[in-house]
Amino acid sequence: MKRGRFITLEGGEGVGKSTNLEYLRALLVARGFEVVVTREPGGVPLAEQLREFILGHQGLLPEAELLLMFSARVHHVREKIRPALERGQWVISDRFVDASYAYQGGGRGIDRSHITCLEQWLLADCRPDLTLLFDAPVETGLSRARERGESNRFEEEAVEFQQRVRQAYLERWREEPGRIRRIDAALPLPQVQEQITRLLDEALATWNL
Ligand code: TYD
Repeated sequence: MKRGRFITLEGGEGVGKSTNLEYLRALLVARGFEVVVTREPGGVPLAEQLREFILGHQGLLPEAELLLMFSARVHHVREKIRPALERGQWVISDRFVDASYAYQGGGRGIDRSHITCLEQWLLADCRPDLTLLFDAPVETGLSRARERGESNRFEEEAVEFQQRVRQAYLERWREEPGRIRRIDAALPLPQVQEQITRLLDEALATWNL
């Protein structure tokens, strides 16, 4: 059985990940792949409970927030992502470990060596094959997120926090331009979707499927 591929979607607040996740799922299904869609923090029952706690709990220390993200992630990987990939299914996750580098590293200021350490210990055999980074100016994203009228602890953080998150994501993109592909999410939706189709087709071609 051929192992499936693992695709993650990343970006700051209000960059349109959810709409485009559905678009990407449909593209993959149309190309004949069996797709599992999931999200972080969450994806499996214990991790979803942790998600509720993390997103709803004021006053968590940054270190505790990071460790809880990884606690949820370990369950998510072992119970859902890895088994699906081994069955030959493709997995799309709305956020994964790059979000910890961006939010807990960039946003909260945790030294990235600690995050790398957790990643190497816990995720060595579960790295994304492709990451689409939806990138837009912070003000654009925040006003879209506010129009939607929903907010969590992270969306309520100051603009400076969101800037640091964006910069940390861009830094990861510059370091790993092969895996992480940047999408200009400030463009109108049809142009964003054109970029997704092009990047997916490029990835499929290099994977020789
Ligand atoms: P969610 O409502 O899914 O946000 P969005 O719709 O913008 O993806 O909430 C998830 C939040 O959790 C998001 O604001 C980013 C944050 N997060 C981290 O801080 N670290 C992480 O490792 C992950 C996976 C998410």
